[in-house]
Amino acid sequence: MGSLIFVAGARPNFMKIAPLLRALATRPSALTAEVVHTGQHYDFEMSGVFLEQLGIGKPDVQLEVGSGSHGEQTARIMIELERYLTRRSERPRGIVVVGDVNSTMAATLVAVKMGIPVAHVEAGLRSSDRTMPEEINRLVTDSIADLLLVSEPAGLDNLAREGCAANRIRYIGNVMIDSLVHQLAAARELAMPAQLGLQPADYALVTLHRPSNVDDPTRLAALTQFLHRLAERVPVVFPVHPRTNKQLEQLGLLAELTADPRVRLCPPLGYREFLGLMDSARLIISDSGGIQEETTYLGIPCLTLRSNTERPVTVTHGTNTLIGEQLDRAWSVIDDVLAGRYKRTMSIDGWDGQAANRAIDVLIEAWQ
Ligand code: UD1
Repeated sequence: MGSLIFVAGARPNFMKIAPLLRALATRPSALTAEVVHTGQHYDFEMSGVFLEQLGIGKPDVQLEVGSGSHGEQTARIMIELERYLTRRSERPRGIVVVGDVNSTMAATLVAVKMGIPVAHVEAGLRSSDRTMPEEINRLVTDSIADLLLVSEPAGLDNLAREGCAANRIRYIGNVMIDSLVHQLAAARELAMPAQLGLQPADYALVTLHRPSNVDDPTRLAALTQFLHRLAERVPVVFPVHPRTNKQLEQLGLLAELTADPRVRLCPPLGYREFLGLMDSARLIISDSGGIQEETTYLGIPCLTLRSNTERPVTVTHGTNTLIGEQLDRAWSVIDDVLAGRYKRTMSIDGWDGQAANRAIDVLIEAWQ
């Protein structure tokens, strides 16, 4: 037997490792799974609830690094993970990292330097925007990981353009869609709109957490005004990320938003609760990476408050529209959505609920 270490640290990692763990557990192989949680996210709402709902359970190892500047956080993950891997009696067969958060890059750096093979799930995505911390994480991770498991066609083009050897690359599809497919029935059973006193297909769901939107006071104030105006057209539900909450509070914008009876603020929601709300929403307004993909799969209109996306298939084949800097541009799109004129989803190769099986096949072949 040999072990595969799955590293996760931040909220968007958990829905990507859950289907991989399930696929490995159901496959006869000589590989066993071990989960290392870096502790990048640590609140129950940002981590524990996802571990529970997605069936991951208690991680085997918790590095408990917590928050900090990028340098601090990345360095702490590297120090703690290297210590753990050095202490371990047996050398793992490989390490699996997912997505583009600081934990992804830090774990890759440590493992590669220790000579342990690394597979990156969701490789090849590029926004070409180097002001995004995630873009740096993607570039570093893909340049040194051994196996690059790609989720959408643009990933293949990007890696080829960067000169990656073809034998490092496999197209496996989207593991996050695996989690969605697996959890959708349970999410619908929660009847989330009814729980919040909302009519299905008659509310806008909002999330915001990118530094480019929430760390700049002028931008955050403009977004707050935008949400008040949106609420005049359609009720708004806004689960608030801790980073955003802190900023809204500091700028005195939280009280103002709370006072708007058509804007419903709540703490970050669990995976199923959020999926249930997304599935029944009239539209979603967000700056998230993953939500662009989930709404595309569900066929729900998504307005992304960014100027670029590393997930272009959600624009060409899905329900995503990039709004960019100029919030005024959103209104004509919102008019289209509310009038039922918005674009629909086309099918995307490998977004079928089976991506984790394909990923695990690759890993067993490479590392068993
Ligand atoms: C991180 C990822 C981002 C991902 C997002 C999802 C990086 C560079 N960023 O951003 O790609 O989209 O997660 O949420 O890896 N905090 C808490 N409780 C927690 C975690 C964080 O209160 O459990 C607060 C802390 O004040 C912290 C701040 O949120 O300083 C930001 O957390 P951090 O992990 O640095 O980045 P995110 O904005 O969450």
